[in-house]
Amino acid sequence: MAVTRTFSIIKPDATRRNITGAVTKMLEEAGLRVVASKRIHMTRDQAEGFYAVHSERPFYNDLCAFMTSGPVVVQVLEGDNAVQRNRDVMGATNPADAAEGTIRKAFAESIEANSVHGSDSDENAKIEIDFFFSQSEIVG
Ligand code: CMP
Repeated sequence: MAVTRTFSIIKPDATRRNITGAVTKMLEEAGLRVVASKRIHMTRDQAEGFYAVHSERPFYNDLCAFMTSGPVVVQVLEGDNAVQRNRDVMGATNPADAAEGTIRKAFAESIEANSVHGSDSDENAKIEIDFFFSQSEIVG
């Protein structure tokens, strides 16, 4: 399997509850390595740009408001088949559907406050990594 990268966000519901370490521990235990990480407070422009693909969805405004409601931790994760590996450990978007042993089962509060974001494809991972990180910030 190829070593690839994916993009992760630890969302405001998780930073508010001081569980960024607990979330990161689950990522690491799943075989992912944090090769870049920073705590930021997203601007409205950043949230709208990042989630532009959802701009026609009914939850878009609430999603952007939530993602700017507090700090987040943006990360680049590296590992074998990183996108799928991360999606597996995150669990289903809606915590009601998330499997035991996943981050969202353990920590998510709702479909909106679902603790983590992860890229859904290698192509989007590259776009999302480039949205928040310069190459010099990524140290493998
Ligand atoms: P994320 O992986 O960050 O990508 C888009 C986010 O929209 C998703 O996780 C959810 O947290 C959020 N969201 C809020 N409401 C919905 C919904 N009804 N369906 C899908 N995603 C939703």
